[in-house]
Amino acid sequence: MDKKIIRAALLGFGTVGTGVYKVLQKQKEDMIPKLGSQIEIKKILVRNLEKAAAKVEDPAVLTNNWDEIVNDPEIDIVIELIGGIEPARSYILAALNAGKHVVTANKDLIAVYGKELLDAAEVHHVDFLFEAAVAGGIPIIRPLKECLAGNHMAEVMGIVNGTTNFILTKMTQDGMEFKDALALATELGYAEADPTADIEGLDAGRKVAILASVAFNSRVVFDDVYIEGITKITAKDIKYAKEMGCDIKLLGVAKNTEEGIEAYVCPMLIPSSHPLASVNDSYNAVFVNGDAVENAMFYGRGAGELPTASAVVGDLFDIARNIKANCCARIGCTCYKELPVKKMADTYSRYFMRLIVEDRCGVLAEMTAVFAKYGVSVAQIIQRAARAEESAEVVVITAKVREGDFRTAMEDLSGRSSVRKVSSMLRVYGE
Ligand code: HSE
Repeated sequence: MDKKIIRAALLGFGTVGTGVYKVLQKQKEDMIPKLGSQIEIKKILVRNLEKAAAKVEDPAVLTNNWDEIVNDPEIDIVIELIGGIEPARSYILAALNAGKHVVTANKDLIAVYGKELLDAAEVHHVDFLFEAAVAGGIPIIRPLKECLAGNHMAEVMGIVNGTTNFILTKMTQDGMEFKDALALATELGYAEADPTADIEGLDAGRKVAILASVAFNSRVVFDDVYIEGITKITAKDIKYAKEMGCDIKLLGVAKNTEEGIEAYVCPMLIPSSHPLASVNDSYNAVFVNGDAVENAMFYGRGAGELPTASAVVGDLFDIARNIKANCCARIGCTCYKELPVKKMADTYSRYFMRLIVEDRCGVLAEMTAVFAKYGVSVAQIIQRAARAEESAEVVVITAKVREGDFRTAMEDLSGRSSVRKVSSMLRVYGE
């Protein structure tokens, strides 16, 4: 089909929607030479027509009536940027069922209903693209589905939440405590009014579910991902981690092991020499390991108006090219396997822990005896006299151990009278 004008509709005109509108305007002169066709925004679905009018050249594009979009045969592409589950899910399904291509940045939806949406796209032979759903402006979905398709991926992991990375950076570089760093992030607009999804790791968990599904060709949903946030991290943990040669980052990790997929998000110590340790402020980075490519890292802006719009517009251009070449739905769902997802208790890691113990003869021996009972071996240890009388602070990094065994050891240990407090327990990334 040699279509010169491709019409699209935007659902939602918030930060990312406005960014998409701006990027398309900046690309106006380049689209014909780049794509052979011109993408026009025919309609923008908004709640408040008056408020949105100031942001567009022609207010006639604005509507608050979804039927005008879904029933318009001229609209080829629907760009869903409302976010959340409903009405986004119903709108996307209706658009796909009406034979329209869909671009979305909606990670909440894909992490739970990805299969349903991709199946609908396949049935109707249309494109359903979601590059912007993971790590904003960083290209990672298409690289995994296309450029890296010749690999069996062993691992995809990284820093996929800018808000928490900003907070941890402030805690590391300026010695701030969590609540002060969060207040600063809110003041600077990095954290939303309700920061729960970011600081509790939920946003990153959704991205890990999507990354694992795409990387390992097997569906992983949000509920499969083990999640811990950063609210309990203290400046002291970060200081000890530094002494032990590590930084603390909120990592999203997905591994493809012989026993199944591991998928988790948690604050982890990572050796300061690892490239991800120097990904700071609100930047994101995704690190992949495949049997052919070995290691590759993708770094950039994981959020924001124009970076996220960059990914959305890349998807739009891809669809425009597909329409022009009459080859839509070339790459749909890539989950052709059904791999099990491991329980967190069956994963292996090194652990960092900070304990307040009684300062007397034999306490360390008791500690290591408990560890030995459950196969936990101590790799590094720091002991400092604590302020409280007759107590000492002990910081330990263990050798690799099964999480279930480590937890049993910690339950046993924290029940001992010599252990006054388990202040922190974190995983350590790497071998
Ligand atoms: N709130 C996210 C972040 C961006 O801080 O990275 C959108 O997923």
